[in-house]
Amino acid sequence: MAAPSLPVVCDAVLLSEDRIRQRVTELGDAITRDYADSDLHLVTVLRGGLVFLADLARAIDLPLSIDFLAVSPYAPGRGGVVRVTKDLDDDIGGASVILVEDVVDTGLTVNYVLSLLKGHGPRSLEICALLDKDVRRIAEVPIAYRGFKIPDHFVVGYGLDLRGRYRNLPYVATLREDVVEQL
Ligand code: IMP
Ligand code: MG
Repeated sequence: MAAPSLPVVCDAVLLSEDRIRQRVTELGDAITRDYADSDLHLVTVLRGGLVFLADLARAIDLPLSIDFLAVSPYAPGRGGVVRVTKDLDDDIGGASVILVEDVVDTGLTVNYVLSLLKGHGPRSLEICALLDKDVRRIAEVPIAYRGFKIPDHFVVGYGLDLRGRYRNLPYVATLREDVVEQL
């Protein structure tokens, strides 16, 4: 099967499908080792984390459940306060929860979601993030399982979007500089 062609808005492939697959397998193996005999719940924030979650869940060789949160950011300058548009369906009280994120950038979103999840009383709560843009960090976020550290560049693919598009690319690609300037 031919790889989808690079969209015109993109500059280059940053992480190939093969590299992502290999790393997701490693993360799945680590989680499988660390969470044997626990009541594992994977929680993802829609919609960016969807593709990563689907592959990660299948790389974990343990019984687990999957739940979703959806949030919409408030206007810029609101200090990272986000509005929950879809809450969890399951009770995660006493469960071992891993928050699966596409990217941790400033860390404000994940920080807010973490405090929200803590309020549900999980037994443990860790973060698994595919991408870490650590140079942009504002809020301190402990990432227990990290896919890749990436430079400060807007990327699309493997769940990440530009105005709702390109989530279906099987790789992660950087945007062209002139496209980034128009964001
Ligand atoms: P935060 O700055 O860590 O709060 O990131 C919030 C959200 O911004 C992420 O969950 C993504 O949805 C989005 N985001 C951050 N960087 C990128 C990117 O490079 N491409 C697409 N979405 C991004
Ligand atoms: Mg997101």
